[in-house]
Amino acid sequence: MNSFLNLENIEDIRALAQAGLDLKNNSGLANKPGLGKVLTCLFLNPSLRTRLSTEIAATNLGMHCINLSTDSAWKLEMKPGAKMDGGTAEHIQEQAMVLSQYSDIIAIRAFPELKDPNQDYTNDFISQFAKYASKPIVNLESGSLHPLQGLADLMTILEKKQQEKPKIVLSWAPHPRQLPQSVANSFSQTIQKAGFDLTICCPEGMELSEKYNGNAKVSHSQEEAFQNADFIYVKNWSSYHNYGATLQEESWMITKDKMDLTNNGKFMHCLPVRRNVVVEDAVIDSPNSIIDVQVQNRVFAAQSVLKSILEH
Ligand code: CP
Repeated sequence: MNSFLNLENIEDIRALAQAGLDLKNNSGLANKPGLGKVLTCLFLNPSLRTRLSTEIAATNLGMHCINLSTDSAWKLEMKPGAKMDGGTAEHIQEQAMVLSQYSDIIAIRAFPELKDPNQDYTNDFISQFAKYASKPIVNLESGSLHPLQGLADLMTILEKKQQEKPKIVLSWAPHPRQLPQSVANSFSQTIQKAGFDLTICCPEGMELSEKYNGNAKVSHSQEEAFQNADFIYVKNWSSYHNYGATLQEESWMITKDKMDLTNNGKFMHCLPVRRNVVVEDAVIDSPNSIIDVQVQNRVFAAQSVLKSILEH
């Protein structure tokens, strides 16, 4: 693997997930292809899980990991050809060159602005940075995707499924803030690329883009979609079709009554999660909640990807 920006060039996503699970079963302590190598992680937005799991993954591979956040970098200019006589001190072109000189792999988190889908889906910060960088890039969540989360979630389903073809449901849930579609897009893409059927359950108007919906069945009723489900993956996202619009639908919170419709289904969420808004305590604290396994698998998803890049 060269870079890990999206899943489009991953030929066998199940093999990449299985490599992560093999690392997990060996306590992460494989050979150290990263000895003497540097991973620089640039975070333009907050993170708990992605930051920690990526740093642990790099350490397990023998790499040295440097984390940079916006307060440790100059204010960036993004426009090509800009006359930089205002508030921006450094162009993304130089930032990408500098990080490429100091790093063997560069990982970036840059959330979307949720104003223009073309900007967020095709010309976001990571895409622009990648044009100027000369080292492999790892997506730690971009304008439209969170592929490391998707890979960890696939690993979790492979680890926990009881049958070959479990019923997997991605359900929208309410949230007071405007959130990206990235996690939902990556979950849908990863699960379908791995050969599973997916049902996406959301209020009307909150459907994902055609590209990321793929062949998923769309339902506008949780009561219908949850019937006999083996996995309920929960996430809020803002509208793609009325780009960035939010919806307050408290009745879409995940409750024990809804989970009782499932086939003793497992509850999944990428975190952070707002308790008793997105999901009630009785569900997230139940034995069927596997959020801790998802969290564990973030380390080995990142390790699987970094190892594949180092060995390329
Ligand atoms: N799930 C996830 O990406 O968590 P963080 O935003 O804390 O990294």
